[in-house]
Amino acid sequence: MESQILYNGSSKVVYKGEGDEDIVIRFKDYIAAFYNIKGARIENKAKMNCSISSMVLGYLNECGIATHFVKRLSDSDQQCRLVKHIPIEVIVRNVIAGSMAKRLGIEEGIVPANTVFDLCLRDTELGDPLINDHHAVALGLVSYEELDVIYEVSTRVNTLLMELYAKAGIRLVDFKIEFGRAADGSLVLADELTPDTCRLWDATTGERMDKDRFRRDLGRVGEVYQEVADRLANVLNK
Ligand code: TMP
Repeated sequence: MESQILYNGSSKVVYKGEGDEDIVIRFKDYIAAFYNIKGARIENKAKMNCSISSMVLGYLNECGIATHFVKRLSDSDQQCRLVKHIPIEVIVRNVIAGSMAKRLGIEEGIVPANTVFDLCLRDTELGDPLINDHHAVALGLVSYEELDVIYEVSTRVNTLLMELYAKAGIRLVDFKIEFGRAADGSLVLADELTPDTCRLWDATTGERMDKDRFRRDLGRVGEVYQEVADRLANVLNK
């Protein structure tokens, strides 16, 4: 019998798992940008992103961060914990790039004095608008206490991933994560962490090793995703 589909997106599909508390995330060989206006098949992307996200989330679990990741099941599949998803995107920025550079008229590549956090409401019809803490609480999505935890965990994740990627010769420019609530109400990082959801620049050459290659038609998308997977595997002895 085919498992029940809980979510079917452009780059992954989520199935109900065998246990009541489990889900299976299956990555796809597809890349999409600008709300699916632009999309393409990328050979082996499912395997590369499943590998990268499994290594990164497994590493975070080992470092004591509560994530939804349980184990990698196959080339393209991950077993994860079922959580109640909070529809907020938390963006962490170490270097100015992307929408922040554009919105505020700042040159990409400038390092701000502090880590910058953005919150976006996850609502495709509204274009995932930027919101602030008070909006998030007023919308009933989280409490102020939960926001404290979200910022604290996001800061720890940022420190751990900056160190990990630095060992791989990669600069972690920014990334996006989402959270969910486990059955006991505790917050769990419940997202992928891949070059689709992070900006990764080669530490020496500054070459982009993430989805911006696809967004900006820079070419060699699959090649750089494979390079990220290989470098992480080398650093983590996988
Ligand atoms: P931005 O500069 O477009 O706001 O993106 C910041 C980072 O967050 C970048 O690494 C891409 C990632 N991101 C997502 O993964 N999904 C999203 O919906 C958004 C807005 C950003």
